[in-house]
Amino acid sequence: MADLESILEEKRVFKPSAEFSKKANWNKATAKAMRELGEKSPQRFWAKMAKENITWMKPWKKVLDWKAPNAKWFLGGKLNVSHNCLDRHIEGEGSWRKNKAAIIWEGEPGDTRTITYGQLHREVCKFSNVLKQQGVKKGDRVVLYMPMIPELAVAMLACTRIGAIHSIIFGGFSATSISDRVNDAGAKIIVTADGGFRRGKPFGLKSIVNEALESAPGVKRVIVAKRTAQRVSMQVGRDLWWDDLMAEASANCPPAEMDAEDPLFILYTSGTTGKPKGILHTTGGYLTQATTTSKYVFDLKDDDIYWCTADIGWVTGHSYVVYGILANGATTVMYEGAPNSPAEDRFWDIIERHRITIFYTAPTAIRTFIRWGDEHIKKHDLSSLRLLGTVGEPINPEAWTWYQKVIGGGRCPIVDTWWQTETGGIMITSLPGSVNTKPGSATLPFPGICADTVNEAGESVSGKTGGLLVIKKPWPGMLRGIWGDKKRFRETYWDKFKKQGFYLAGDGAHRDRQGYFWIMGRIDDVMNVSGHRIGTMEVESALVSHAKVAEAAVVGRPDAITGTAVVAFVTLKGGLEGDNSLRDALRKHVAKEIGSFAKPADIRFSNALPKTRSGKIMRRLLRNIAEGVDVVGDTTTLEDPSIIAKLQQPETR
Ligand code: WT7
Repeated sequence: MADLESILEEKRVFKPSAEFSKKANWNKATAKAMRELGEKSPQRFWAKMAKENITWMKPWKKVLDWKAPNAKWFLGGKLNVSHNCLDRHIEGEGSWRKNKAAIIWEGEPGDTRTITYGQLHREVCKFSNVLKQQGVKKGDRVVLYMPMIPELAVAMLACTRIGAIHSIIFGGFSATSISDRVNDAGAKIIVTADGGFRRGKPFGLKSIVNEALESAPGVKRVIVAKRTAQRVSMQVGRDLWWDDLMAEASANCPPAEMDAEDPLFILYTSGTTGKPKGILHTTGGYLTQATTTSKYVFDLKDDDIYWCTADIGWVTGHSYVVYGILANGATTVMYEGAPNSPAEDRFWDIIERHRITIFYTAPTAIRTFIRWGDEHIKKHDLSSLRLLGTVGEPINPEAWTWYQKVIGGGRCPIVDTWWQTETGGIMITSLPGSVNTKPGSATLPFPGICADTVNEAGESVSGKTGGLLVIKKPWPGMLRGIWGDKKRFRETYWDKFKKQGFYLAGDGAHRDRQGYFWIMGRIDDVMNVSGHRIGTMEVESALVSHAKVAEAAVVGRPDAITGTAVVAFVTLKGGLEGDNSLRDALRKHVAKEIGSFAKPADIRFSNALPKTRSGKIMRRLLRNIAEGVDVVGDTTTLEDPSIIAKLQQPETR
């Protein structure tokens, strides 16, 4: 509630400059017309976008088929994603882009590669043939577990070219997380690399895949790209080198004609149970939304150098490092490593050297830059920048204004973009040439998106009363399901407002008098740590799988830098005592079970957890304790009130 009040007091309004508006892909008048069209008929708006921004091999017969919760967009339409991202920029009208940079890549050690559209097309065709040779067919799942190197984009596009479904697993996930996802998706092939570079050191990926495959017997083939040249163990008959296969592959591979509703990719994300959900996206609708939002939210032009700092392993990287950006024929920058390697000015150095014009990053990164100090920024010329974006979590007004002033030099509009893995593309956002911005607000729904805040009964609420963020009408990039779990799909997103057919986003939000959305964060047991989604249950089950742990409860605590910090309350088996060495062991264990990014910041031991007499863990109370505020509300239902004091002892070293 404190957050809500501080945001409600935010009165500053920033207007787009006349100069920016005039040149914007949507100027004020067009944006207004598009908003009106989107309100009157989302279908007509999206059909117009699909026609203008996407190249179809066969036109669709019907725009939308909607029987909640199942949507089909652009029925009967045929297209290919790699054709839209590559071929149309090297042949016909767009052919002048053939020698334009598609990807400017920079490795952490400082090596760089510039790959033109013509070259990228050739690499993708070759890798498509490699996949085919390895027996990959339309509809097969291909797992990609790779560092931020161009080969990852090549592999994604190659999958789309032949109609294989990729499932990318972020390179920070552990062996257990990989085998869970591989088995759930039923993948027979993994593309990986020997490793990558981060904070000045090589890390291994192939070694982790080797470990994962001990519990994923369905995988028959592993293709390994070489990045670090570290020693890796290759299993004869199963593992093959990327370079060897590419050397033999033909560069001729026509794009497969895919149906608009053919699956494009699966991306696993955390939910309220311990098991991640395989979010399924399909071809035509997803590409339409990713491409359209890229064009009008980032105002992409042919002379832009665009950089999104997200890892491709998260949805932001899928939509706004690769698909939406390349489909527009723009230049996308990919950076392999950490923002403080070799020093805290690495990002600003990259912006200066590559003359980056559009920069898209996360609030947690912005808060980290603030902490590192302005001196790192002042060393560099950031005058090439013309637009800034944020994504992943609510941005606090202080960070917003710092971003605007120090990075944007006061001249760049900021687009705060709200969306989710499930939505496929941006949903609530400013439009840089036409929407006045307020620090901390994602502003208004993108045209054609029908978002609202509602109460438990599904009625619109606004003003000081916050509500549940819902999407009231289907949109093209929406998830089409959870891989292999129809029931969970319905229960998680649709059952709450079954009668109305609304999509439940899982966020709380409120709208101000101008209809601006202020996102307040998750309302379910999902934490947003540094813009990474982690389920409290996932961390709990990781902790409980440790031999010494009897029970665990995990909550999020607001954190100045990461947004949320993971706090774990742990009870141990039979009389064991918790100490710092066990804390270290438990953190290592969580890293092994999920990945380093999920490690608890704070672990508190106790001989019992606060439960109601019916045995339910009182999470609200644990959240109070984690935040160090007074325990409020009724504790009389607590089975053993004396444990509160014990849990209030913070971790000490
Ligand atoms: C959750 C989705 C989609 C990109 C990255 C995260 C939070 C995302 C914003 C924003 C406030 C935001 C929400 C959402 N979120 N963008 N601009 N303002 N909150 O994807 O892992 O699927 O997480 O991130 O809580 O539900 P994700």
